[in-house]
Amino acid sequence: MKPIYLDHAASTPVHPEVAEVMMKVMTEQFGNASSVHTFGRSAKKTVNGARDVIAASLGCFSDEWVFTGGGTESDNLALFGAAHSRKGGHIITTAIEHHAVLHACRELEKEGYSLTYLPVDGTGRVVLEYLEAALREDTFLISVMLANNEVGTVQPIEEIGRLARERGILFHVDAVQALGSVPITLSALPVDYMSFSAHKINGPQGIGGLYVRRGAPLHPRMHGGLQEKGRRAGTENLAGAAGFAKAVELAVKGQTGRHEESLLLRDRLLRGLDQGIGRDAYHINGNPEYGLPHITNISFPGVRTDVLLMNLDMEGIAASSGSACTSGSLEISHVLKAMKLRDEYLNSAIRFSTGLGNTTEEMELVSRKIETIVNRLRIKD
Ligand SMILES: Cc1ncc(COP(=O)(O)O)c(C=O)c1O
Repeated sequence: MKPIYLDHAASTPVHPEVAEVMMKVMTEQFGNASSVHTFGRSAKKTVNGARDVIAASLGCFSDEWVFTGGGTESDNLALFGAAHSRKGGHIITTAIEHHAVLHACRELEKEGYSLTYLPVDGTGRVVLEYLEAALREDTFLISVMLANNEVGTVQPIEEIGRLARERGILFHVDAVQALGSVPITLSALPVDYMSFSAHKINGPQGIGGLYVRRGAPLHPRMHGGLQEKGRRAGTENLAGAAGFAKAVELAVKGQTGRHEESLLLRDRLLRGLDQGIGRDAYHINGNPEYGLPHITNISFPGVRTDVLLMNLDMEGIAASSGSACTSGSLEISHVLKAMKLRDEYLNSAIRFSTGLGNTTEEMELVSRKIETIVNRLRIKD
């Protein structure tokens, strides 16, 4: 049986058109974009061409886009970049952010900044009243993700952004998981910084981007050359930038179609589970109204996450326990904990995330395999 990959929220296969563009750059261009000769100018044209395509796709100015080494770097650049532009103060984030934000915030706390980690409701959504209550005189930055990588819950970032703007507070949004699923027009959003990553949208690993609204402060993290207008030193990743631009273009253009496909795939999986183990035998974690269509986080009470994952893997099915960083360990997800799920849901949650190449037939097969495994494991207990 061909292996079935249901871990697209961790990383995605590179789209053939992206690979084609990258191959062309890798084999035909090797200049350094900072060099003044023809080779350098050609490289610069490639990087800036990629920047223009991304800016046009996301509705921002080209000079508002900074290429980085991935989503983690983008998050760090935004948070430290905003914080180090001033001295001290209060930052608000949420308990369900990716570790790229949470661990950066812990570091800022060590540096003397004051942090509030907002709780979420049972579906993983930020409650606006809590946010308002947390605001302080010295609050200068809010960081809330657009969509959660473990349960797919989409946050009310427009409302949060408006609150921030009214008070002159900077607003960072981690959109790494949302790009390609949630429409994004940066010029219309009350957002100052937004993080992106190519490998979540069928682009290459190791390249990302940060939107920095014109006028928003940004103290650089990397010191060296004056690349990216002094905001991110280091020779540009030519092939990565070109591939990322193609991936963004495809993701934005194909958004509606992919949304429908993702819903269909989810529907097949859930219908299969209903017919097999029955609706009472599983629980969906996340928000039924505000959620990414390609991420479905399901708990199977009575079956341990790691055991189910291992059994699925033996059947050639790749799923995950949540964020890639924690999936290697048995640690319970900080996101599910923040949602205050019952213990039996916490210990048995699996994230299925679909994408390029998945079929409805695969989803039917997966539901049947889950039925066999769950029935076997439950009897054993
Ligand atoms: C919401 C979110 N933010 C940030 C990251 C980190 O991105 P990268 O893997 O490109 O460093 C991820 C990756 O899982 C993510 O899901």
